Amino acid sequence: MNILVVGSGGREHAIIKKIKENKNVETIYALPGNGGIALDATCVNIGAKDIDKIVEFAVSNKIDYAVVAPDDPLVLGAVDALNKVGIPCFGPNKDAAIIEGSKVFSKNLMKKYGIPTAQYETFNNIEDALKYLETSPIPVVIKADGLALGKGVIIAMTLEEAKDAVKSIMEDKIFGASGNNVVIEEFLEGPEVSVLSFTDGKVVVPMISSMDHKRSGDNDTGLNTGGMGTIAPNPFYTEEIAKECMETIFLPTIDAMNKEGRTFKGCLYFGLMLTKNGPKVIEYNCRFGDPETQVVLPLLKSDLLEVMMATTNGTLSDVEVEFSSDSACCVVLASKGYPQKYETGYEITLPNTCDGEIYIAGAKMEEGKLKTSGGRVLGATAVGKNLTDAIKKAYELSSKIEFENKYCRTDIGKKALSVKGE
Ligand code: AMP
Ligand code: GLY
Repeated sequence: MNILVVGSGGREHAIIKKIKENKNVETIYALPGNGGIALDATCVNIGAKDIDKIVEFAVSNKIDYAVVAPDDPLVLGAVDALNKVGIPCFGPNKDAAIIEGSKVFSKNLMKKYGIPTAQYETFNNIEDALKYLETSPIPVVIKADGLALGKGVIIAMTLEEAKDAVKSIMEDKIFGASGNNVVIEEFLEGPEVSVLSFTDGKVVVPMISSMDHKRSGDNDTGLNTGGMGTIAPNPFYTEEIAKECMETIFLPTIDAMNKEGRTFKGCLYFGLMLTKNGPKVIEYNCRFGDPETQVVLPLLKSDLLEVMMATTNGTLSDVEVEFSSDSACCVVLASKGYPQKYETGYEITLPNTCDGEIYIAGAKMEEGKLKTSGGRVLGATAVGKNLTDAIKKAYELSSKIEFENKYCRTDIGKKALSVKGE
C-alpha cells in the first residue's frame, strides 16, 4: 500500500512511525514532512494547505490511503478533495472539521445538545462584546472564533485586560479573520485532560488519556506554547470520570454531529477540564493533538493503520483498539526563546541508540546534517512501567540529544506524579 501523510510536525512523525509497523505498507509519503521525518518516509515539498497539489500528487502516485493530520487542511476540505478523486482518508470532511474550525459553532452545538461546557456568549460586533464585559464575572476567557495556531485564547484577569483582548482580536485583528467573531466565556478551574478518540460516526473509542504542558516555563509559568511535553495516562482521569465523560460528552457529541448532518470520522480530540461540577469541554480538535500523539501512539498495541481505515469504512466496532498498561512521557526540546524569538540552523546530534523514540518537529536536512529549523525542535518520548520510570527515561534520552540553544521544561509529569503519589 502507498500511504500519504499530510503535515510536518512531531505528531506526523509519530503517526508515520506507527503506520510503518503495518506489513502491507510499501511507501509512506509525507507532504511536506521535515528533515527528521525524511528518515522514515519520502518527503515531498508540497505544503499542507496546498490542497490542489496534494490531490494531484496523490493521484499520480497511486495513493491507497491518506492521513490528513493538521487542522488547517482539514478545515479547508482536504479530505473532501481527496475523496472526490476516489482516495480514502483518515480525518473528518470539511463539514465536520468545523467542530474545531469555529468556536462559535462548537459552543452553540454544546448548548443545543446539553453537553457540559463553560457558560458563554458570542459576539460579532465589538460594542456589544465590550458592553457584556462590564457585567461579566472576572477572570473571563476571550476566544477568537477561528483557527489561530492554538493562540486564540486569552484569559483576562482584570476588566481592563478583557477589554484589551476584545479590542486586539476584533479591532486590531491580531488573529486575522479568525477574530471576526468572539466567544466570551466563564473561567473554569480544575485539572486538564486531553482525550483523543477514534470515531467512525457510529461508535467512539477513546484512546489512553494524556496531559499536555502548555506554558513555556516550569510550574506552568511563561507564555502559552503549542505544548512543551506530555504524559499518558493522565492520573486525574479516573475510570469513574472516563465513564461519566463517555455518557455526558463523547457519545452526545457524536450524536449531535450526526443530527446536524455533519458525521465526524477520524480522531476527535476532547480537551476537558475536570471542574468541581464535573468534566466540561474546553475545546474540541478535529485531529490528533501535538504533542499528545507522541505519548498516546507509543502505548497503542493495535495496528494503527487498520484502526484508521476502520474509522473511514464505518467498521470501528469490528476492530480491537488496545493500549498497553505502561506509561509514557514526551519532553519537547525547543529552541531557546520559543514561543517568541529564537535562532535556528544549529546542528542536532542524536544518540546512536536510544531507549525511546525521537520525534522530529522543527528540523531540516542540510548537507547531510540535521539542523534546527523551528521553535519546537523535537520530542523525546520514553515508555516505562510507571510514570516515574517513563519520566526518568524521557529526561535521560533528552540529555543525550545535543544542539545549541536547546531548551526544555524540567518538570514534565511532576503534577501528575503528585496525584499518583509515585
Ligand atoms: P485552547 O487553545 O482552547 O486549548 O485554550 C488554551 C488554554 O486556555 C486551555 O488549555 C486552558 O488551559 C485555557 N482555557 C481555555 N478555556 C478556558 C476556560 N473557559 N477557563 C479556564 N481556562 C481556559
Ligand atoms: N496539544 C494541544 C493541541 O494539539 O491542540
